[in-house]
Amino acid sequence: MRSSPPFLLLLLHLLSFLVGVCDAQEGSDFRICAFNVQNFGESKAKKDDVMKTLVRIITRCDVCLLQEVRDSKQKALPQLITDLNSYDIRHEYKAVASERLGRSDTYQEQYVFVYRSDTVTVTGQYQYPDNLPGDVDAFSREPFVVRFKAPKTAIKDFTLIPQHTTPTNATKELDALYDVLQHVRKMWKTENVMLLGDFNADCSYLAKKNRKNVRLITEKNLFWLIPEETDTTVRSTTTCTYDRIVVHGRTFASAVVPSSAKSFNFQVEYRLTEEQALEVSDHYPVEVLLRDTASKVSFSLLLILLPFTFTCS
Ligand SMILES: *[C@@H]1O[C@H](CO)[C@@H](O)[C@H](O)[C@H]1NC(C)=O
Repeated sequence: MRSSPPFLLLLLHLLSFLVGVCDAQEGSDFRICAFNVQNFGESKAKKDDVMKTLVRIITRCDVCLLQEVRDSKQKALPQLITDLNSYDIRHEYKAVASERLGRSDTYQEQYVFVYRSDTVTVTGQYQYPDNLPGDVDAFSREPFVVRFKAPKTAIKDFTLIPQHTTPTNATKELDALYDVLQHVRKMWKTENVMLLGDFNADCSYLAKKNRKNVRLITEKNLFWLIPEETDTTVRSTTTCTYDRIVVHGRTFASAVVPSSAKSFNFQVEYRLTEEQALEVSDHYPVEVLLRDTASKVSFSLLLILLPFTFTCS
């Protein structure tokens, strides 16, 4: 006992150092976001305040899926990317975009993945076709599937399937997403798949009694990460969990930081009025953190060292 204090002190230092390492790495966890930016195009790009808020939101993410990009003149998106890069010079932001998708010629949208090219690279892209054999054109906006490599995350390689459902067809489209998942798993021989976006998966668009018919909900091995009752809508008069993140497989699920899946209330975070927030979008983004490789190592080091602290005291 008498000789223990210096040794104990040393261990405490070592421990606090390790905890410090863990803490530092907490900040470097990898964030995946999905944001319905409600009719993003020229008119939003002209509003400085709106662009500033969008830039603050998107630069929090290593990968950010944007939906409802309706940039027919193809100027708003390039401007957004330029703004991201001048706001956050620690990273380089790039984007991959789908074609303009939609059943009618007058209403079309793009899926856009904005990503930090210094933490993640795109290794595959696949536009799910309008009509596969046995498929009855389930989607208004067929998923634009993108595969990523992120060496510093615990998962390292993962595929994202985006979906912005048509509200009135949400139940059917969500069920059909299960077929897309199987198709992509086979095509790219991968289990590490995440499905994300504005699924309209709540309130009147996805009645509780219909959920048993949706394979994306009922099949095992799929983890719905955004907790029920999470509000993903800006309007104070609506509380619905429309936007979702779903991961396939235990390996992917265990690479996720526990309880990190949530919506990001940018109205509160950036002290905006509801009106100001609604100029940006009527949705909050949803997000989840992936663990990085190093945090695993320092955590197990901590576990190894823990018994010694007990031995000493
Ligand atoms: C709903 O789906 C059906 C067929 O799958 C399609 O014909 C219809 O246009 C869809 N509704 C909307 C509003 O997109």
